Amino acid sequence: MLLARADAGVETLQRVPVNVAQCLREACKDGRILAAAKQTTFTENIDAQELFVEGDSHALHRLFLILIDNALKYTPPGGSVTVGLRRKDGSAVAEFRDTGIGISGVDLPNIFDRFYRADKARSRECGGIGLGLSIARWVAEAHRGAIEVQSASGLGSLSLCDCLCSKVNPLQVGFPHSRVDRLTRDIQVSVPCLPEEWHVR
Ligand SMILES: Nc1ncnc2c1ncn2[C@@H]1O[C@H](COP(=O)(O)OP(=O)(O)OP(=O)(O)O)[C@@H](O)[C@H]1O
Ligand SMILES: [Mg+2]
Repeated sequence: MLLARADAGVETLQRVPVNVAQCLREACKDGRILAAAKQTTFTENIDAQELFVEGDSHALHRLFLILIDNALKYTPPGGSVTVGLRRKDGSAVAEFRDTGIGISGVDLPNIFDRFYRADKARSRECGGIGLGLSIARWVAEAHRGAIEVQSASGLGSLSLCDCLCSKVNPLQVGFPHSRVDRLTRDIQVSVPCLPEEWHVR
């Protein structure tokens, strides 16, 4: 639905300061429940307290859930998933590491393509349709960020998502009140249309 709306050029995202750590912790709540259900160790390393990006908390939450879901889905029971957050230069970098089945060098360049699944039989078993990473990448790019997946067959995966940090910390002491108001009000912005190859056929 989100991609279809983006295709049509009508999808809008909010531009308000979002506390990324808080948003990631929320997504981890679901991750912990899913992990417990499949005997997977789930570890959270979210120290950063005040990393703000200007964006849409619902979309970012969805992005984080997609990466947590992948990490859990492609890790057999007994494995582990670790979620972290750090600041790097001017960006907030969220990391999702798993000890799962990994992705071969042949498949890796294609995983962001719509409906692409490296192992179709296994993906079908897991209930995936191959849209998660396409959506995740769209959301990251709409936040002036990017997603990268590092992996090798049988060696687990590391998904990295970075988003440009807001220059202004709305919690900062002495922050002019008028400016906080301006920053926190909802500004609906049009997200540019997706390129032709993204259109659903
Ligand atoms: N952490 C991971 N470990 C192993 N393979 C992965 C991982 N993340 C993604 N993949 C591979 O990349 C493919 C594309 O991922 P994507 O999230 O777009 O789709 P999906 O998980 O199959 O389905 P959906 O997310 O729509 O439910 C997956 O089918 C899988 O083969
Ligand atoms: Mg997925």
